[in-house]
Amino acid sequence: MFPQTPGPIGIFDSGYGGLTIFDKIRKTMPDYDYIYLGDNARTPYGPRSFEVVYRFTRQAVEKLFNEGCQMVILACNTASAKALRTIQQRDLPGWDPQRRVLGVIRPTVELMDRLSISKHVGILGTTGTISSGSYSMEIEKMFPHIKVTGEACPMWVPLVENNEFASPGADYFVKRNIEHLLAVDPKIDTIVLGCTHYPLLIDKIKSFLPAGIKILAQGEYVAASLKDYLYRHPEMNARLTRNNHCRFLTTESAEKFSETASVFLSRPVEVEQISID
Ligand code: DGL
Repeated sequence: MFPQTPGPIGIFDSGYGGLTIFDKIRKTMPDYDYIYLGDNARTPYGPRSFEVVYRFTRQAVEKLFNEGCQMVILACNTASAKALRTIQQRDLPGWDPQRRVLGVIRPTVELMDRLSISKHVGILGTTGTISSGSYSMEIEKMFPHIKVTGEACPMWVPLVENNEFASPGADYFVKRNIEHLLAVDPKIDTIVLGCTHYPLLIDKIKSFLPAGIKILAQGEYVAASLKDYLYRHPEMNARLTRNNHCRFLTTESAEKFSETASVFLSRPVEVEQISID
């Protein structure tokens, strides 16, 4: 049985990347309490199977609920693509039907029709996110007139994780994926950064894009969507504490997380190492 008293919002990612989403959520809703959990010991999730991503994500969500979270945001696109639906349908009703687990794909997809004029959009993501077809399926359901082309960019996460995102070495991989995406569909006018790490590559991505193509980084839209969700669900809002407090948990070394997190958040953070398996 999870703690029943009001508690924080949990933010989960396979590692550091979700900090780009967390940062925007916290700026949009600074009063709330948060627990950020990065499964750094088992990152990356991108190349892993459905079954493994589901199992790891389930363990993380359970941990965040045990820590008192009333709702959890899967800030990871790969986890949102491969585990969210199963957790919502299979696990949540048995755990506690009052709690919520939300992902980042739906709030992103909702914007597509408004942003794209040509109705041709490109999705950049990990191999797992693109091969799951989650973006294409969600867009097809909501906006069947939009043509979606996905491009898996397996080298981009390692570039960011290794702090090489601004280096000339990153140019090669970013250029290659962007050129390939636009060769497959030259009518694309909107590109979604469908991975938490890619906002750190945004300047490089822009430098290889022809003028007029929009880039969508998810953080602020996920944050706005969460704010709107809580406005529409006062019963959940009442279950959330607001002391402007934040905890950071990682399954790997706390020192390493703290060091890299400061690159993502531009400030030092205090971190606790935990185990979830
Ligand atoms: N957080 C993941 C995502 O947004 C990228 C890192 C990983 O592969 O685990 O897809």
